Amino acid sequence: MKNIILIMGVLVFIFIIAATYLIPQEVPMINIDESINMYIVADPHLMSEKMTDDSDTFNNYLSTVDRMMKYTGFFLDVIEDEVKRNRPDIVVYPGDLTNNGSKVNHQEFEKHLKRVKATGAKVYVVPGNHDIGNEKALYFRSDKLHLTESITYDEFSKIYDDYGYKDAVSKDENTLSYLVKPYQNLWLLMLDTTKDYPEPGGYLNRDTLKWIVTCSDMAKEENAEIVVVMHHNLLDHSEIIWEDYTLDNNTSVINTLHECDIQVVLSGHIHIQDIKSHTSVKTGNTIYDIATSALPVFAHQYGQLTYSPSRGYDYETIKPDIEKYALDNKIEDENLLSFNEYSEKFFIDNLCRKHKESIELLDISDEQKEEVFKTVTEMNKKYFSGYRNEALEKLIETEGFKIVEGLDECFIQEYIMGMIKDQNADNNKIHIPVNN
Ligand SMILES: [Fe+2]
Repeated sequence: MKNIILIMGVLVFIFIIAATYLIPQEVPMINIDESINMYIVADPHLMSEKMTDDSDTFNNYLSTVDRMMKYTGFFLDVIEDEVKRNRPDIVVYPGDLTNNGSKVNHQEFEKHLKRVKATGAKVYVVPGNHDIGNEKALYFRSDKLHLTESITYDEFSKIYDDYGYKDAVSKDENTLSYLVKPYQNLWLLMLDTTKDYPEPGGYLNRDTLKWIVTCSDMAKEENAEIVVVMHHNLLDHSEIIWEDYTLDNNTSVINTLHECDIQVVLSGHIHIQDIKSHTSVKTGNTIYDIATSALPVFAHQYGQLTYSPSRGYDYETIKPDIEKYALDNKIEDENLLSFNEYSEKFFIDNLCRKHKESIELLDISDEQKEEVFKTVTEMNKKYFSGYRNEALEKLIETEGFKIVEGLDECFIQEYIMGMIKDQNADNNKIHIPVNN
C-alpha cells in the first residue's frame, strides 16, 4: 500500500513539473480597462567589483568617466529592490548593460537579471554599442589597468537566452534584433541598432527594416500594439549632440515605423532624460522616442511605462531614494548615506568638467567665469534630469545666464540656449493615447 502511495506521489510530482515546464503557457491578454507596468533601466554599464581594486589607477579612471562606475552594481541592487517591492510586469534594458563589454561583467549582469526574473517579471535585453567585441574591456589589479576578454555576437544571445532570445516569436537574420509577445495585445520589438561593434554609431539595414514590417504585419493581424526598445535614438535629442547618438539612417527608420503605426520607441545611449516626437505628414500619426537617462548618471533614475488598451501609454521617471536604501540596508559607505550631496559633487566634477574648460577660454573676468559656471552647472543638472524651457525660468534670471546671453557665438552659449528652446519643458512624464 505504502509503495502505491509513493508511486502515486511521484507521478503527481512529475505531472506538476511537466505542466509547469513542458506545456506551453498561454500568452495573457491585457483586458480593455486593465493596465501593465514596464520598467526601463537604461545604460546600467555594470562593472563587477571583481574587476576593480582600491588603487590610485582605478580612482583616477573613475574621475574620467561620466558614469558613477564605482557604484554600478549597487544601483542594480537598488533596481532589484524596487522590482521586488513594486512588482512591474516587464523590465527592459535597452543596451550598454556592461562596462566595456567584458565577459565577467556580462556574467554578473545575467545574475542580476535572474534575480529580477525570479520576482515573476518578464525580462528583455538588447545589446548596446559597449556590450560586444569591445577591445577596451578592462580590469584593475595591483594598481594597473589590464585588458580582458569581451564577448562575441553569438555569446551575447547565449548569455541572454532567458531574457528574450529563447521566447522570441521572430528573430532578425542580420542582427540580434527579435520580437517577443509578452501579451496577446502588446508585443515588444527589441532592436539591435549598433552599426559596427564597439563603435558608438547606430544604423538599421534595409533587410532589418523589411523584417520590422513583417513583424508589424503579424501584430496587425492579431490586433496587437508594438513598442520598440532599442539602444540608439530614433530622433535627435540635442541640436548639437546627435552624431553617433541618433541612428545614421533615422529618416528611413522613422518612415518604416510610421508605416507600421508604431507610436512608442524606448531608447537610451545619450545618457540624458529626453522625449522627442515626429509626426508623419502622410498619416498624421506621431511617434515618440523616449530616451531614459543612464542609471549610473545623474539624476540616477529609471523609466516606467504603463499601458492600458483603453487609456494608452503613460511614461514617467522614478528616482529611487538611494540614501534610504543605504540606511535600510546598513551600508556604511558615506558617499551612499549622503548620496544627494555626493552625486551633485560627482556631477559637477565629472560631467561639467568639459563646460568648465570651455568657460575658462572665454574672454571675461574670473568673477564672471565663476557666475557662468554656477549657472551652467545648475542648468546642466536640470537638463540631464529632463527639464527644459520654463522649468529653467529661475536660472534665466541669474547673472551667469545674462553673461552667457551677451557672449559672442560660442559652444557654451549654443549649449545653454538649446535648453530653453526645446520641444518639452518636462521630459519625465508623457501621456500618449492609442491611435485608432
Ligand atoms: Fe551608455
